Amino acid sequence: MSDISKNKKVTVVGAGNVGATTAQLIAEKGLADVVLIDIIEGIPQGKALDMFEACPLWHSSSRVAGTNNYDDTAGSDVVVITAGLARKPGMSRDGLLKANADIVKKVAEHIRSTSPEAIVIVVSNPMDAMAHVAQKVTGFPHNRVIGMGGVLDTSRMRSFISLETGVPPKKIKAMVLGGHGDLMVPVYRLTTVDGKNIAEVLSDDKIQAIVERTKSGGAEIVSHLKTGSAYYAPAASTVEMIESIFGIKDEALPSSVLLNGEYGISGVYVGVPVELGPHGLEKIIELELSEEDIKALHTSADAVRELVDKLEI
Ligand code: 2OP
Repeated sequence: MSDISKNKKVTVVGAGNVGATTAQLIAEKGLADVVLIDIIEGIPQGKALDMFEACPLWHSSSRVAGTNNYDDTAGSDVVVITAGLARKPGMSRDGLLKANADIVKKVAEHIRSTSPEAIVIVVSNPMDAMAHVAQKVTGFPHNRVIGMGGVLDTSRMRSFISLETGVPPKKIKAMVLGGHGDLMVPVYRLTTVDGKNIAEVLSDDKIQAIVERTKSGGAEIVSHLKTGSAYYAPAASTVEMIESIFGIKDEALPSSVLLNGEYGISGVYVGVPVELGPHGLEKIIELELSEEDIKALHTSADAVRELVDKLEI
């Protein structure tokens, strides 16, 4: 009994594919108790109970509960926001702006009152703008509201490099910065394959093809699924961030944070390498980027700013 009651508490808002898969991974790894919340009645309850019943098989002491009531989420250490509409084929993430901003606003109001100390991870798209909305509406210090995008984009890039080179992903380092949108910045100059710069291993054409496939990685999945977007890799990326926050992993992760002059950018959420920990964002890492990459990062940040300006928040 007492062991279980010491568990951390993670609320996952949205019991769709991304939310449910995130909840599953947390429970499977036994990282925390999980509350899965959704406005649809029955779905979070049913999915959560199903996961809870798998916990003995996963050797996990997580408790998993589903609800439609924010009171049950009170006092969460981490809240993951996945609520919102997903893209349809041919749609960009930005097309979801207004609809998802309304949803994220409502969610953020609830979090503000029920889990005022939580660290919030925003997954809903367009993610960087939604992180901005969540930070403004909760009024939480910016270190406690972080967007998930760069971990996913970087994982995609590493997968594609692995596919092309045959080198296992664990020997591939990459870093995708910028907004989690069409203007993301895969920094291939910092990409290494088994310790060698990628330019020594692959031709320019191959590298460019990987960069392009990474940029449209989300759309590629949408075009296959037709009725939804990716969820296995987004959920795994979110859980990677939670493991860093809980101090289980300590690698720098590209995440969307509110910049205040770093990389010459201010007042906008954009993906940069960060250290995460018990306070959420612990440190922004300022890499030496080429002029071209800095320019691309600024262009990407400007696109996020444009979206945020449309919201008048
Ligand atoms: C993706 O890139 C849904 O934005 C998410 O797949």
